[in-house]
Parts: sequence; C-alpha cells; structure tokens
Amino acid sequence: MEEIQNSLETKIKLVAREFLEKSKDKEIQIISHFDTDGISSASIIIRALKRLDKVFSIKIIKSLEEQFICDLPKEKLFIFLDLASGSLDYIANSELKDVFIIDHHEIIQKISENVHIINPELHNKQKISSSGLTYLFCKEIDPKNKELSKIAILGMIGDILEKDISKLNNDILNDGKIKKKRGLLLYPSTRPLNRTLEFSSKPYIPGITGDVEGVKELLKEIGLTPINGKYKSLIELNNEEMEKLVTAIMLRNPKAKHDEMIGNIFLINLFNKLEDARELSAMINACSRLGETNIAIQFCMEISKVKKKAESIHAKYKQFLISGLKFVSETKKIEGKGFVIINAKNIIKDTMIGTITSILSNSPLYEDGTIITAMAYYDGKIKISSRNVGRSGKNVREILNRIIEKIGGEVGGHEFAAGGIISRNKEKEFIDSLQKSFEVELVKI
Ligand code: C5P
Repeated sequence: MEEIQNSLETKIKLVAREFLEKSKDKEIQIISHFDTDGISSASIIIRALKRLDKVFSIKIIKSLEEQFICDLPKEKLFIFLDLASGSLDYIANSELKDVFIIDHHEIIQKISENVHIINPELHNKQKISSSGLTYLFCKEIDPKNKELSKIAILGMIGDILEKDISKLNNDILNDGKIKKKRGLLLYPSTRPLNRTLEFSSKPYIPGITGDVEGVKELLKEIGLTPINGKYKSLIELNNEEMEKLVTAIMLRNPKAKHDEMIGNIFLINLFNKLEDARELSAMINACSRLGETNIAIQFCMEISKVKKKAESIHAKYKQFLISGLKFVSETKKIEGKGFVIINAKNIIKDTMIGTITSILSNSPLYEDGTIITAMAYYDGKIKISSRNVGRSGKNVREILNRIIEKIGGEVGGHEFAAGGIISRNKEKEFIDSLQKSFEVELVKI
C-alpha cells in the first residue's frame, strides 16, 4: 500500500535514506542496462558513489536473464538501473538480500520486501527516464550531485522522453541550466547540413537518408549552396531557410507532421564544447551497442582520451544502421493485415535490431496501428523487438508476453515498445505463434 500513498518524490527520499543505511559496510554491485539511459544512469551513480567513497563494481548488460540473477553473489548490495522491473520473480527466488531498483519499465510481478524500488509506474506514471530517477536519487544523497544533471538529460533524450517534458524532467533541465532552442529536430544541429541529412535515421527520410545524390538535390531545391565547400549547420539557418527545409522534408515523408518535426534542440556543454544533446546521446548509444560500454561510460564522464574513439565508433555504427535499413527494405518479410515480421537472422546485430525497428516504426513505410516485430540472432538465442506504429492500440509487451510465456524466454518493455529473448530452436514456433495471434485477432473483428 505504501507505493500508492507515497508520491514518487517521497519514495526517492525514502529509498535514498534506506540505501545510505544498508550500504554502510557492504560492497555494492551496480547492474545497468546497455542503452543510453542505462549508461547515463550508471555514470551518474558511479560519480555519486565515488563521492561517498564507497567500494563498488559495475556490470553493463543487454538484458537481465534468470541464470544471471541466480549466479549473483548473495552478500553484496545490488543496484539495478534501467532494468529489473520485469524480473521481480527471478529476484524473489534468488536469495539476494539487499536489492535496490531504479527503473521506469512496466511492473507486472509482486515486489518482495527486500526490494527497494523507485519506479514511476507505482506512482503517477510520470514519464521520466531511469537516468532522471538515478539523478534525483543521487541528488537526495548529496546535493553536490546536482552537477550530474546534464548526464540525466542525455538519458532522457536517449529514451525520447523530451517531447512531453514532465515536471520532474523540467526540474532536471533547470538544475543543469540546459540551453534550449526551437528548431527542426534533425541532429546534429551543430554540423554541416548535408551530412546531417544523409545520416538522418530519426526521422528516416525516404530518398534522403543514406542517399548523397538525394541530399544534394534537396539542398539545391531549397537554395542552399556550400560556402567555402561547407554547408551551414541547422542552427545557423535563418527562419526562411528553416521553413523551406521543413517543407522539402515533409514532401518526402508524408507522415511527418509539421508540429512534430519542430521542437526543442538541447545544447549541452561536454568536453568544453556546446553540442547537440541528441548527437551526444546517439554517440553513447553507438559505443555501447557496438560492445564498447567502457568508452560509453567514460564519454559520459568527460574523460577526454576516449572522445576520438567514441566519434569513430559512432561513424561505424551509422554505417551499420544504414546498411541494416537497406537490408530490411530489400528482404522478404512476413506481412499481413496490421503486422509485419522481419527475420534478420545474422545480418543485423542483435544490439541494433531494436533501433532499426524503432526507425521503421517512425518512418512512413507502415500504417499506424501496424505491429512491427524484428528478430536477430546472437549466441544460441534470438533477440526480438516489437513496436506499435503510431503508438496507439495494441500493447506489444502483452503480445510478446503471451507467446514467450508459452515457449520460454525473457520479455520486457512498455506498451508500444517491447523486447524479448528466445532460444534459437524456438524460431519457427515463435514466428508461427505470432503470425497466428494476429490472424486470430482479425477473425475476432
Ligand atoms: O530491445 P528493444 O529496444 O526492442 O526493447 C524495447 C523496450 O523494452 C526497451 O525499453 C527495453 O529496455 C525493454 N526490454 C525489457 N526487457 C527485455 C527486452 C526489452 O525491459 N528483455
């Protein structure tokens, strides 16, 4: 009942107090998710624990699997970041003693007594990233941690929670004195426009993304020419140029809505340079998804020796994204009314399949209401990502849950974006069950 009565803010205070008490003589193990939000959360807590002079170690993982939880040493104090809300049963059966969870994913299982959890799903469901929650938790522990607010903004942007800024997010922006500028939401807004357009995956612009000739044509059409061999950046455009650019993009992407294309560009000072927060967030994501989690964390912590390496990993990642999208456009898919299933097998990395599925769901390629499910191999397993195009109607976490509950595996996520893992030998069974579930639904209608 405590969960219902307390506000999220009160709960953060209580959990912070509990943490300071329980962590007095214990070694701490941080376990965080490998996306931008998880990496930002981990970077924030590392800085806060260093300030407290605590002994801790850290693990960054793609997903929390049952065996992993069973194998954890029982005597440590655990802090799970940006994950574990979907693994409460495993934790309950694991005999772990002190467990802290800071997360924002849906909760459908019972919370054991030894689990101290900060999750807005238990309160007013305010949209806030795990890094935002971790920041508020660390600020509660020591107000000096206020300096970490800019890292929380990177996580917020990583999870695309910046469009509808809730009160808590707004407080975090104010804490960091983050510069906002209204403009077209293409990033990096600080670099030459031709490159920004060519590598634009959010949004994916047909005929422009990955198409150098298409980009040249568009820029010519709106009357922009390079000055000394270099195009202006987005934040350097005047109002008229900006409007022309928006119109030209909308013509190529009929699903794009003017209001949705314009929004806040956040400029953050990192490595003593004002950068587009979306670009920084994408950089962290790229490093982590290509297996360089240490670089991602050090980048967040402004350790300058990793900057160049992070930039080159990001460039490689963008090339992978473009070739992944090309593969999807050319490959044979399983399609029916309201659904599409893409089996990328070994062609797309398991760590990139979620991003590709998100890009497709935001592109004009599929109608609102379509459920896109993509699959990619890793080890002996298959990573699954599902998205609901247009974010209305069916709950994709429930769809995946119904099937994976029967065939075995992991599921988690949100109403409109969920993921899962199954064993490789369940590939056909999964595809058949998923396809059948959509077709049965259609008969019901
Ligand atoms: O992996 P993918 O990007 O498809 O995941 C979509 C959402 O579901 C993310 O928020 C991710 O953190 C969550 N998820 C989860 N547990 C899983 C897989 C995904 O909570 N096993």
